[in-house]
Amino acid sequence: MVKVAVLGAAGGIGQPLSLLLKLNQNVDELSLFDVVNVPGVGADLSHINSDSETKSFLPSSKEDKTALASALSGSNLVIIPAGIPRKPGMTRDDLFNINAGIIKGLAEGIAENAPKAFVLVISNPVNSTVPIVAETLKQKGVYDPARLFGVTTLDIVRANTFISQLFPKESKPSDFNINVIGGHSGETIVPLYSQGNSKAFYDKLSEEQKKELIRRVQFGGDEVVQAKGGAGSATLSMAYAGYRLAESILKALSSSEDIIECTYLNLDSSIKGASEAKELVGGLDFFSLPVKLGKNGIAEVKYEILNKISDDEKKLLAVAKEQLSGNISKGVSFATK
Ligand code: NAI
Repeated sequence: MVKVAVLGAAGGIGQPLSLLLKLNQNVDELSLFDVVNVPGVGADLSHINSDSETKSFLPSSKEDKTALASALSGSNLVIIPAGIPRKPGMTRDDLFNINAGIIKGLAEGIAENAPKAFVLVISNPVNSTVPIVAETLKQKGVYDPARLFGVTTLDIVRANTFISQLFPKESKPSDFNINVIGGHSGETIVPLYSQGNSKAFYDKLSEEQKKELIRRVQFGGDEVVQAKGGAGSATLSMAYAGYRLAESILKALSSSEDIIECTYLNLDSSIKGASEAKELVGGLDFFSLPVKLGKNGIAEVKYEILNKISDDEKKLLAVAKEQLSGNISKGVSFATK
């Protein structure tokens, strides 16, 4: 019996993400929570003849905590796309003041009602919201770092698509699975094109093209924000990306094959390979890296890739590390103040 809860299910990401989850054979119960419009989304999805049951939960007032408690109770996996998205001219960090409070409240609900769930954080700024969730769960005495995931999968999805677009005759987007490490905003996003099957293509690019490609991955979200002209940020590609990570985590519950995904995680010494990774990234507590998934969440951090990065990527990482450090502290201070 697998129960998945989506917090922020009536939003731009929440709706298509919930649709994809409704179609997943591994999901038995889909629990939708939002502070607006969620009964309609739930009723609509519940007519789909896939085998999972759909329930929706809307609080009756700001003080009502029972709707969230019912939505979360017994959940194995919780995905959080709740909060406000960017408008043109905004950075992800600009969202901090509003989204930090929303995330803290939801993390308290998870601690009280689904303390063993895998928690996937989509709400931005991910670099700071994930530390907020970690600290909140710690304060409640239920924190397991192997079960907390910052969703950076959209950066991988974009990295795969964008390099393929440069080589339309020789490649397809699905040929690639680029490791994108660091964080999830602007220059903290570091795609490692110099490794794996992208290397042969990447090496054919001029220095200018390489810079442009990396910049496009780092700031790809801005293309969507601008194209939507004030109506929000990426929702459909994000729903796909969030679903991909959730699907992999659910698959790892029952599969013996190696399932690897990049995620922004807490480099806590209780996770295999995390101490080695932490040392290689200058002592940062949170960082996005490929991880091996298992029955209990993150089974192992694949830190070895950090020993193989090119000189150019080292320069990108230095910038990423400096920015990440501030983003992480900001989240930790908010949650511990
Ligand atoms: P949206 O505004 O369309 O939807 C957000 C939903 O959250 C709304 O339905 C709203 O009612 C709900 N919400 C607000 N407060 C809530 C609370 N306390 N509990 C439950 N639900 C609550 O926004 P959209 O486009 O779906 O984006 C959501 C978040 O995802 C934003 O923070 C955005 O920046 C982030 N995002 C993250 C990406 C990533 O790669 N990790 C990519 C794109 C967006």
